Amino acid sequence: MRIVKSFLCVSEHLAPLRWLSKPRNCSNAARASSGEKNKGVSDSFRRQVASGPRFQDFIKSPPVTLAVNCEHTDEHYLSEDLGLLGDARKVYFETYGCQMNVNDTEIAWSILQKKGYQRTADLKQADVVLLVTCSIREKAEQTIWNRLQQLTAMKKKRLKTNSPVKIGILGCMAERLKTELLEREKLVDVLAGPDAYRDLPRLLAAATTGGQQASNVLLSLEETYADIMPVQHASQGRSAFVSIMRGCDNMCSYCIVPFTRGRERSRPVSSILEEVRMLSEQGVKEVTLLGQNVNSYRDTSEVQFCGSERTKLSRGFSTVYRAKQGGLRFSDLLDLVSRIDPDMRIRFTSPHPKDFPDEVLQLIAERQNICKQIHLPAQSGSNQVLKAMRRGYTREAYLDLVDNIKQIIPDVSLSSDFISGFCGETDDDHQQTLSLIREVGFNVGFLFAYSMRKTHAFHRLQDDVAPQVKQRRLEECIGVFREEAERVNAAVVGSTQLVLVEGESKRSAEDLCGRTDGNMKVIFPKEDVAVQASASNTAPIRGGGYVLVKILSAGSQSLRGRALSHSSLISTPTPRCDGYK
Ligand code: 5AD
Ligand code: SF4
Repeated sequence: MRIVKSFLCVSEHLAPLRWLSKPRNCSNAARASSGEKNKGVSDSFRRQVASGPRFQDFIKSPPVTLAVNCEHTDEHYLSEDLGLLGDARKVYFETYGCQMNVNDTEIAWSILQKKGYQRTADLKQADVVLLVTCSIREKAEQTIWNRLQQLTAMKKKRLKTNSPVKIGILGCMAERLKTELLEREKLVDVLAGPDAYRDLPRLLAAATTGGQQASNVLLSLEETYADIMPVQHASQGRSAFVSIMRGCDNMCSYCIVPFTRGRERSRPVSSILEEVRMLSEQGVKEVTLLGQNVNSYRDTSEVQFCGSERTKLSRGFSTVYRAKQGGLRFSDLLDLVSRIDPDMRIRFTSPHPKDFPDEVLQLIAERQNICKQIHLPAQSGSNQVLKAMRRGYTREAYLDLVDNIKQIIPDVSLSSDFISGFCGETDDDHQQTLSLIREVGFNVGFLFAYSMRKTHAFHRLQDDVAPQVKQRRLEECIGVFREEAERVNAAVVGSTQLVLVEGESKRSAEDLCGRTDGNMKVIFPKEDVAVQASASNTAPIRGGGYVLVKILSAGSQSLRGRALSHSSLISTPTPRCDGYK
């Protein structure tokens, strides 16, 4: 099996793949055409050349039977027939990692669907299995390596039964581990990095017709898939994710994302608005704007919006890169998106604390349909650790920002990310993290033990916290988080919350489940309720509708209540929570 790598040039990879044993011979072939040098060319080589492709083979008109994967390759080298080879072949996706990967799956599927592929939820039916992968921690990668073992065993069995299956690795792991994946996992057919999904039909065609491994892991400075409308699969089609930017320039010292997903770039505002309008027309009731650094959004592509204002950072925050200038900022986008449909909830994730100027906070406070929920990844409560992490802020600056947020948005719900056991973290540093968790009072947390990746920290710092110490500190953080979440959630008992209904509860068919504005899960009995606040006629509650729910009890992870009536965002006065007590 031959490996086709994206960084090799066309001359190495058009036809010679099939007829010369080594790509280097391609340049020998060029030399062989001069009469002088011809003398030294062996007969066997001449025979190889003679049985190779003709000039016509390099021209678009059919039959062109070879697909290559190369940055310099023009689409024209592939006939449309080849691109459509997917016709009716069934693709099975498995998605790992963050919400960005779920969105990437939808983008990849949208591209393949247009080329005539079908989607299947049944692995046994699949002709192509695509894993959308995550590299953020070692555990995520290990899960995928294990899965690959199972899939390649399945692939071998399927070869015997004459129903071959192709396996592709998409996303961050394809980017980070391209060589290992192709060489160690010989049965991987296709690799596509996060910026190469448009190339998938071509890569699959190469793998299918040529039996080659095909990869494209080039990162782009521009790719935002702006023109590709993802095929949404979120909960019953009532919630959707809209990607607004990709990549990250922050270079936090522990994080692999800037290396696997590349530089920060924003999708043009017009294409975001178009997608949100389309979703609104389809009846979607909640849109989450997505990006690795969602609030660093800045679209400089639309000239009419260009100003000269520099990116304003939150007070006490800095970046390792030059602040961007001009264009449309996150607050402008949020304003425009939230005006599209006043009955559609708007959320965003994942932001960086440096990009919360007052304009963004004021907009969240004022606009009825922008959820009063902010994810504010802190990572640590210790200045020494924050500096080693290169987060660009101190504990004090973070806490000042929290105060400012609470002042401007009094009923805000805050969530955060923390890493336990980062390089050099002492017990005292850990205590400071615990105290920060207590001081802020988050209601949701994503807590991780530090996992070394090939980043700045790998090269410059020592992963010197013993695994059992990392684990103990992580568990302590989880314990404090739970206590605090319980306390914060208990404060809403007795209030009435506007809940967007997701559907039946997973635990009981008698119950429904939905989310508050603060993104807390609420469980309540399935029963008919008044069609509006003071009406006497009732109607059943369905997924995708809003209901007012009286909160009766709270745990650290969910709330329980009783539905009072159907409602809508427009008819519910602000504030949407404690004001109803
Ligand atoms: N080890 C552990 N956690 C990490 N994160 C990012 N990189 C690492 C790492 N090397 C966490 C951060 C980030 C979240 C998405 O993942 O908390 O906010
Ligand atoms: Fe990683 Fe930091 Fe960028 Fe978040 S902001 S993706 S943690 S480098």
